Amino acid sequence: MNAGRIRELPDLESTEALGRALGRVLRPGDCVLLEGPLGAGKTALARALLRAACGDPGMEVPSPSYTLVQAYDGAGFPIAHFDLWRLSVPEPTGGRDGAGAVAGRDGAGALGGRDGAGALGSRDGAGALEELGWDEARVGAVLVEWPDRLGALAPADALRLTLELMPDPGAAAPDALDALDASRRVMLQGWPDRLPAVLAGLGHVRA
Ligand SMILES: Nc1ncnc2c1ncn2[C@@H]1O[C@H](COP(=O)(O)OP(=O)(O)OP(=O)(O)O)[C@@H](O)[C@H]1O
Ligand SMILES: [Mg+2]
Repeated sequence: MNAGRIRELPDLESTEALGRALGRVLRPGDCVLLEGPLGAGKTALARALLRAACGDPGMEVPSPSYTLVQAYDGAGFPIAHFDLWRLSVPEPTGGRDGAGAVAGRDGAGALGGRDGAGALGSRDGAGALEELGWDEARVGAVLVEWPDRLGALAPADALRLTLELMPDPGAAAPDALDALDASRRVMLQGWPDRLPAVLAGLGHVRA
């Protein structure tokens, strides 16, 4: 694992440009892990990536926050988009409060648009992933929001993107709505063979 490359994403367009560039080099067997807090832009990036990989710029790409997984026909191979928020975190350290975590996300509705249902609650990670078709999906490419839920199933050769909301220097008291317009920063780790060329092609994504 390399140390990670950091890029600024000052607006949605730059996040989407990164997604498109990754979508153009996506191959069967790839795994893209999308980390970051609520509203960081994981789905926005995945949407642009999927549209590019499927060659359909207008394709509907709903957030899989309730279905947990959404399947697409890529150009010649399937792509699965997972949102694992509702699965429980594997716990080497123990003591995770799954219900509390769901409440926390629902409570941030202004950011992520999550409703208060929390219907699924916390679910067993490995068993639920099997039910969701993780093994079958790995034959194609997979995109994963909240990849900490994968635990040991996270592929070692995955591309890991860690999105961060940047504080708005002009905001006296940052709140959730301010955060929606804030700039993002992304750290990219993995894909040593492909990532340099992808980033080199993104002139406007500032280093
Ligand atoms: N630079 C940016 N990059 C990405 N999204 C941005 C940016 N600036 C503003 N946004 C907005 O922030 C929101 C990001 O929402 P998105 O659903 O992609 O977040 P998420 O990380 O998937 O959240 P969740 O954890 O709830 O799934 C969108 O409304 C998007 O338009
Ligand atoms: Mg999302």
